Amino acid sequence: MSSFTSEIQRRRTFAIISHPDAGKTTLTEKLLWFGGAIQVAGEVRGRKAARHATSDWMELEKQRGISVTSSVMQFPYREHMINLLDTPGHDDFSEDTYRTLTAVDSAVMVIDSVNGVEAQTIKLLNVCRMRDTPILTFINKLDRESRAPIELLDEIESTLGMQCAPMTWPIGMGKSFRGVYHLYNDTISFFDPHAEKGTAEIIQGLDNPRLDELIGSQAEELRIDVELVRGASNAFDKQAYLDGKQTPVFFGSAINNFGVQSLLDAVVELSPAPLSRKTASREVPPTEDKFSGFVFKIQANMDPKHRDRIAFLRICSGRFERGMKIKQVASGKTLSVNNAITFMAQDRTTMDEAYSGDIIGIPNHGTVKLGDTFTEGENLKFIGIPSFAPEYFRRARIKNPMKMKQLQIGLKQLAEEGASQLFRPLLSNDLILGAIGLLQFDVVAHRLEHEYGVDVAFESYDCATARWLRGSDADLKAIADKYGFNVALDGNEEYVYLAPNRVNLQMAQERYPDIEFLETREIF
Ligand code: G4P
Repeated sequence: MSSFTSEIQRRRTFAIISHPDAGKTTLTEKLLWFGGAIQVAGEVRGRKAARHATSDWMELEKQRGISVTSSVMQFPYREHMINLLDTPGHDDFSEDTYRTLTAVDSAVMVIDSVNGVEAQTIKLLNVCRMRDTPILTFINKLDRESRAPIELLDEIESTLGMQCAPMTWPIGMGKSFRGVYHLYNDTISFFDPHAEKGTAEIIQGLDNPRLDELIGSQAEELRIDVELVRGASNAFDKQAYLDGKQTPVFFGSAINNFGVQSLLDAVVELSPAPLSRKTASREVPPTEDKFSGFVFKIQANMDPKHRDRIAFLRICSGRFERGMKIKQVASGKTLSVNNAITFMAQDRTTMDEAYSGDIIGIPNHGTVKLGDTFTEGENLKFIGIPSFAPEYFRRARIKNPMKMKQLQIGLKQLAEEGASQLFRPLLSNDLILGAIGLLQFDVVAHRLEHEYGVDVAFESYDCATARWLRGSDADLKAIADKYGFNVALDGNEEYVYLAPNRVNLQMAQERYPDIEFLETREIF
């Protein structure tokens, strides 16, 4: 294998998905620790605690520098290079999470063993399903009085529609949690909350007398359990996992470091190296020589004095080198990237080279947009998951009219970053914001004030839902003439119908049967 191919084959790019509080932050931290990327456990959680202490999301925004460095965490593990992409925990920022999931090749789903499958897990899983993303499952918090493991597996199978293949099996739970049995290498890892890496001892073989010595009567229960589990559950099928149809399941306790290493080993051993990516015209294999990639996330104004923005680009093929010239396909312009950044061991460092699967941060002044494709010349357009119709709407009202220009710029830039969506009705001067979660409005107001010097209030706006319009120019003109106050242009100058209520929407659809009213729009 050439060194180019092996660089790609050794990469693993994934994200962790979970319902809030299942243990994503804890697990992230432990993965970094096992990977040697942080020296002291506590760094990541410390940051989260600081955010919580203020219980103020604006505080989080003030710490954007921090949230950016943790958005991508790259570290070597065994002979592999891991890219762990962070996703915002809060439901209101789920669009950000959806976009991040387009940039990974696999995911780890964390389930709280007490609460089982929760609402946000289902939503995120549905997004993964859109691309058949392979998913490893980590059932966390076995040190607590949990639900029966078999019941948890049943719940995952029935609510998430995915087969489970247990890879490890827990011995007891809560106070009597003793460790796990590895179904495929016939070893038992014993749990010890006081051991540095959570594991006291590892022994080989279910019939090993040491097992009875260490856990007494639980040994016989384990033997019976394992026989039952082997008979009743699905055997691991690598292809079914890679196709997103089966999830290998691991049990552990992240806070106690237990089960984390097995999970990390599974990430490098089972999860896929960078995969081919679809574009509008063809599929791009990761090993293609020429560089290509797409922007899945923008973060602006990390340093308010410099108005810089970082575009996060997932490399889909080829090799990136510092100083390389790449073409922004949408504009046809060439960008010379001398200062791409990576997030190795959580520090921003200047990057010299990167390969398919890696994420690079490209500083820019607003020229790079969400969903942009970059290549070495070919006109490709990566396609992926759509942007969703907003569920909440507000009219922006400026307190000082002299600042109108700044408001328009600010709203436009924040919309480009994906912080909210912006709509301008054809027949009014209103600036309407759309969001998926209400917190997005608070963040936008805060950022307008602190980054653009505009004090803005958000008023209620009579809109129940939005639909992107597709049709002939004549039809679009007709609907715009008829409903000019409710037809708006979005950030991409596309027509959108802002429906005051469902009845109006239905009437508009009946009146213009040749126009498509779309609930989602492809941004990629
Ligand atoms: P999140 O990012 O998914 O929201 O979850 P996070 O890691 O913040 O974990 C949520 C809570 O669950 C935290 O407790 C954390 O300590 C706890 N936790 C994580 N893993 C385990 C585990 O294996 N066993 C047990 N018993 N608890 C676990 P908290 O009280 O909210 O925060 P803190 O006081 O511990 O900081």
